[in-house]
Amino acid sequence: MRICVAGGAGYIGSHVSHAFVHAGHDVVVYDNLSTGLRSSVPAGTKFVHGDVSDPLLSRKTLEGCQALVYLAAFKNAGESMIDPIKYTRNNLQATLSFLDAAIEVGVKYVIFSSSAAVFGDSQYLPLDENHPKEPSNYYGFTKLEIERVLAWYDKVLGLKSASLRYFNAAGYDPEGKITGLERNPANLIPVVMEVACGMRSGMQVFGTDWNTKDGTCLRDYIHVTDLADAHLRALGHLEKGEATFAVNLGTGRGHSVLEVIQAAESVTGRKVNYQTVGRRAGDPESLWASGEKAKELLGWVPRHSSIESIVLTTWNAYKANGMVV
Ligand code: WQD
Repeated sequence: MRICVAGGAGYIGSHVSHAFVHAGHDVVVYDNLSTGLRSSVPAGTKFVHGDVSDPLLSRKTLEGCQALVYLAAFKNAGESMIDPIKYTRNNLQATLSFLDAAIEVGVKYVIFSSSAAVFGDSQYLPLDENHPKEPSNYYGFTKLEIERVLAWYDKVLGLKSASLRYFNAAGYDPEGKITGLERNPANLIPVVMEVACGMRSGMQVFGTDWNTKDGTCLRDYIHVTDLADAHLRALGHLEKGEATFAVNLGTGRGHSVLEVIQAAESVTGRKVNYQTVGRRAGDPESLWASGEKAKELLGWVPRHSSIESIVLTTWNAYKANGMVV
C-alpha cells in the first residue's frame, strides 16, 4: 500500500517509516526537517522536503496514497506551556490543513500520533482508554483536539483512523540501523544520555517532593520499536474494515526519574550529575498505561521496552554518532 508518513524523518517517525518499508509498503516520507534528519529516512524511500502547512505540496505528495501516518508535530510538553502559539500553528492548524488534503485526495486510513498527555493528571492507574481526558499542558490539548476531529471525520465522512497514544517514547532501533539523535532534546532519556557522555555537564531533576516512592515523577517509557509495531498493527486492523479507535501504548508500569538515572549509570558505567530543582509546569505526577485494549484489539505486546533495553539502545545511538569517548 502507498503510505505517506508525515514527520517520517523524526525520531519516532523514522522508526515508523523503517517499519512500514520493512513490511513491504510503498512509503513516501514528508518532513520539513525542522527536527527530523534526512539521513534518518530509509534508504531508497521517496522523500519530500515540505511543511505540513503547505496545502499544495501536501496534496501533491498525498496523491495516490491509501494511508497517512501522521507524526508531524512538536512534542515538548514543557515548551507548549511557554510558547502555545507555536503548538497551535503546527499541532492544530497545519495538522488540520494536512488532513484536509488527505481527505481531498481520497486517503482511506489515518494513523495519528497521539499521546498520554491527553489525560492530564491521573485519577486512577494504570490509565485505560476510559480515563477522563483533561490535559494538564497545551501539548496534550492539541493532541486531544485532533483525536476529536478524527472521530467526527469518521462519523461525517467515513474516514477511518487510529489514534495511538504514546506514553513516553524512548529507545532506539536494537539493530542500530536508525541512529539519528534529536537536537537539543528536552525529554528525560536523551538528556540523561547527554550527561552520561559528557555533552552536558549536568541536568535538572524537576521536583523531588512528589507523592511517589522516591519523590520523583513516574512515567511509562515505551520503546519506539514497539510503538512502530503498533502502527503496523493499527493499519492492518483498519484495513480489515474495523471501526475508528484510540488506544493507549505503554508497558503497564512506571519508572521514576531517579530510577532512569540509576539505570543509565548502570548501563553506561558513567556518573549522571544532576541538581534537584522545583517542579516543571504541566507535569503530571504519575502516568502509566493499561495495555489491555492494545493487546485485545491489535494483539500488541511491547517486547523491547525494559528500561535497560531503552537505555542501552539509546546509549548505542550516542556511540554510533561518536558522542561517547
Ligand atoms: C519525563 C519526566 C520530567 C527532563 C513526554 C513528551 C511528550 C509526550 C508525553 C509523546 C518528567 C522529568 C525531564 C529533565 C526531568 N510523549 N525530567 N529533567 O513530560 O512525560 O512528556 O511524554 O507524545 O511528547 O514530552 O516527558 O521526558 O519531558 O519528562 O526531571 O531534564 O522526567 O519532569 O517527570 P513528559 P519528559
